[in-house]
Amino acid sequence: MRFTGTIKLNTIYHADCIDFMQAMEENSVDLTVTSPPYDELRHYNGYEFDFMKIAEELFRVTKQGGIVVWVVGDKVKNGNRSLNSFRQALYFQEVGFNVHDVMIYRKKNTPFMRSNAYTNCFEFMYVLSKGSPKTFNPLKEATVRNGFEMLPHNKRADGVNKKILKELKKEKTLTNIWEYAVGWGGSSTDKVAFKHPAVFPEKLAEDHILSWTNEGDIVFDPMVGSGTTCKMAKLNHRKYIACDVSEEYVVIAEQRLGLSKKQLALV
Ligand SMILES: C[S@@+](CC[C@H](N)C(=O)[O-])C[C@H]1O[C@@H](n2cnc3c(N)ncnc32)[C@H](O)[C@@H]1O
Repeated sequence: MRFTGTIKLNTIYHADCIDFMQAMEENSVDLTVTSPPYDELRHYNGYEFDFMKIAEELFRVTKQGGIVVWVVGDKVKNGNRSLNSFRQALYFQEVGFNVHDVMIYRKKNTPFMRSNAYTNCFEFMYVLSKGSPKTFNPLKEATVRNGFEMLPHNKRADGVNKKILKELKKEKTLTNIWEYAVGWGGSSTDKVAFKHPAVFPEKLAEDHILSWTNEGDIVFDPMVGSGTTCKMAKLNHRKYIACDVSEEYVVIAEQRLGLSKKQLALV
């Protein structure tokens, strides 16, 4: 299946992502938020997954100062973690991305998985930038204590802390560990989304979209699955482009976003 044709904004395409990106203009995407198949953990209706080519094309289509958020975990086989996510992060550097941050997506509710190890409750969110990020709108959270307090200022030579009146701020920038509830009611309340086996939380996509883009920017997901990234881009007044190799998932994404057949380009 070779993708041909023009690419329109706010459209989800049925296409292999390499073919699709090769048809995209270079330096055209502000932010990609995507999650690839993790090793061979799940079968998504059959696909070919050429990671290196995907990384190279992602670099080409990303604008200078643009960001790719790569949400990924590792398979454990015979008691050995694959660490393929590490290999991928290193290859992203080789193709020219900066590893701007390694963030953690912590899952609030995870089933017990292994009898001889602690339950894994996180995945990586590699935040890759093409040069220095052109947009950063830091998300904030309320602080526990705020207002004016006498606070330690400078330790004197005798070891005694001098205290001065200081203002504690009402809010602070988030850390790089983000926690989300997963599954139905957590990741999303769209029943149709869960016809896909690996939906990531809407809030996760939204938090990255708000952090790394402004209204009107272009958000891309080359492996869009149930359409989470596009839904949150649309709700936050960003433009989106996406594709998935599975026609079945593209139809799910269409239903989820309430797109018309015309906006959904099954090729
Ligand atoms: C982890 S899922 C993405 C789930 C998505 N983030 C969501 O919230 O629904 C990975 C997706 O990659 C798609 N995929 C795998 N190989 C692909 C390829 N070569 N081109 C495009 N999509 C591909 C699969 O069909 C699957 O839907």
